[in-house]
Amino acid sequence: MESSSPTVVHPGLSGAERASADALTAPVSRETRDAFDALGDDEGSPLANELIATERLRQELEASDFPRPRQTRVFAVSNQKGGVGKTTSTVNIAAALAKRGANVLVIDADPQGNASTALGVDHHSGTPSIYDVLLDDTPMAQVAQRCPDIATLWCVPATIDLAGADIELVSVVRREFRLHDALVELLDGPGKRLDYVFIDCPPSLGLLTLNAMVVAHEVLIPIQCEYYALEGLTQLIKTVEMVRRHLNKTLEVSTIVLTMFDGRTNLAREVAQEVRTHFPAQTLAQTVPRSVRVSEAPSHGQTVITHDPHSSGAVAYTAVAREIAVRGAARPDEGVHQ
Ligand SMILES: Nc1ncnc2c1ncn2[C@@H]1O[C@H](COP(=O)(O)OP(=O)(O)OP(=O)(O)O)[C@@H](O)[C@H]1O
Ligand SMILES: [Mg+2]
Repeated sequence: MESSSPTVVHPGLSGAERASADALTAPVSRETRDAFDALGDDEGSPLANELIATERLRQELEASDFPRPRQTRVFAVSNQKGGVGKTTSTVNIAAALAKRGANVLVIDADPQGNASTALGVDHHSGTPSIYDVLLDDTPMAQVAQRCPDIATLWCVPATIDLAGADIELVSVVRREFRLHDALVELLDGPGKRLDYVFIDCPPSLGLLTLNAMVVAHEVLIPIQCEYYALEGLTQLIKTVEMVRRHLNKTLEVSTIVLTMFDGRTNLAREVAQEVRTHFPAQTLAQTVPRSVRVSEAPSHGQTVITHDPHSSGAVAYTAVAREIAVRGAARPDEGVHQ
């Protein structure tokens, strides 16, 4: 690539002298350019450019500040559409924030127990879990487990016992407030220093999701950039509105994350554009690319943040986490206790 530096004329100098004078007067010195500039200059392959961009972003993130919230921020990660990246986003954003020193709790509210698997915590049938919290009044502090890889990350696991909970909860007193009451009790006690709570919801708008929305301040919606992406979103927004009107006036859709984004396809770009047009304030600038490392991490009982911190997926989720932290710092204070 041609340099855009203006030519400086040095009359009366030899060729070699002129070259060194040009170097001295050049507007950008080599020291101020970054180490990868030479690679960037020769229009490398798209893959090489992608690797360089990922590594640059990783270094920038490492050097940047992730402000901690003044009060616990509680997110319901929800989208009744299945397989859009709810669990993947929950565990990776949580891990990225915890890696940067925040105290983070993930509540697995999905009978599939995928978040528990990815966080490497025990969740075989019979393990004390969110089921005991919701149905038997067991304090959350008694069922939470510390994640093996990150010291400031905890998980309330879900076991297959939760599969019947949507129906069992119907006949329970304060059935929409079970999770609210349990979390408020935790945050009044040993959990009061938590910075973030992420609740991984199942792909439905039943009582488990409702319980999450009643205790959350914020709804985080992962959207997969594909053809049916926006289908069902109207229903989800209506549910959030209904909860806000009747059960939790502080709830809002604060964050939309575009997942499994492939910028090379027109469809992904069009879907992303449409989401940004409808939700300009909520949609994060950072998207999450499709990445093999992200999808294989759970089989190691890990998030991609610990499994392969240099991968594009880990770097993207860390950038998403920073955006959430920075946007949160600009929000007005809201207490968890309603
Ligand atoms: N960025 C990504 N790159 C590659 N694969 C991904 C990515 N995000 C998610 N996946 C894969 O897509 C599948 C669905 O993701 P995930 O389980 O997070 O979705 P979900 O919305 O929680 O699903 P469910 O509705 O069943 O709870 C999983 O196999 C996951 O590994
Ligand atoms: Mg899931």
